[in-house]
Amino acid sequence: MIRLHNVQKIYPPDQPALKGIELRVHEGDFLFIAGASGAGKTTLVKLLFGATRATSGQVLVGGRNLSVVDEDNIAYLRREVGVVFQDYRLLPRRSVVDNVALGLEVKGVPKRQRTDLAMDMLKLIELDDRADALPQMLSGGEQQRVAVARALVHKPKLILADEPTGNLDPDMTNVVFDLLLEANAAGITVVVATHNLAIIEELNLRTVVLDRGKIIGDFERPGRLE
Ligand SMILES: Nc1ncnc2c1ncn2[C@@H]1O[C@H](COP(=O)(O)OP(=O)(O)OP(=O)(O)O)[C@@H](O)[C@H]1O
Ligand SMILES: [Mg+2]
Repeated sequence: MIRLHNVQKIYPPDQPALKGIELRVHEGDFLFIAGASGAGKTTLVKLLFGATRATSGQVLVGGRNLSVVDEDNIAYLRREVGVVFQDYRLLPRRSVVDNVALGLEVKGVPKRQRTDLAMDMLKLIELDDRADALPQMLSGGEQQRVAVARALVHKPKLILADEPTGNLDPDMTNVVFDLLLEANAAGITVVVATHNLAIIEELNLRTVVLDRGKIIGDFERPGRLE
């Protein structure tokens, strides 16, 4: 599903963010990307979504070479990848339910059905009573839950979640991780970047640890992390 070979990312003019990254993620895997603030987690997730390009090296996602921007790649990423951005990126002029339904639009699901599916997702994250609100009327954590719902609703092949519970309390963190694990159990590949070591230790799933742009550990079952 994901294959990175010797990937470097240097933000212009000279800010290094990733160095010599080697990574393979198989279809159906669940992967945590851990590391301190500034370690390169968001940069790695962005590469996987084609939101930024590697300075050098190879980035293959779903058999597509993301060093090349072509329409097929972009269409694939839109249809088959669900992304939870660290800063949510909800559309400010669209209601909560329409933001969630967005992922279904690119798949050509009819409007009525889109709304029904989006409402089902909103119930799962306990925000169905805010369906008609605009994102700015929601708290940070509520917006984060909407972002999670939007990424999951169209049942993508791959979910990329950047700090998806950074603004959530422990109960809601569990709700979100239950949804991500359920998606994974249904065969969806899930990549989660987080510095929440407690959740990584609790779930004890494969974890890649970044430190200043380099992978310093790749643990099948991390157990306790320092
Ligand atoms: N657009 C940018 N331009 C220049 N440098 C950047 C840019 N984005 C990130 N960086 C730098 O790249 C490095 C990695 O940043 P990145 O956002 O990937 O870290 P992170 O692990 O996601 O951190 P956090 O946990 O705080 O979200 C940092 O040194 C950061 O300052
Ligand atoms: Mg980040």
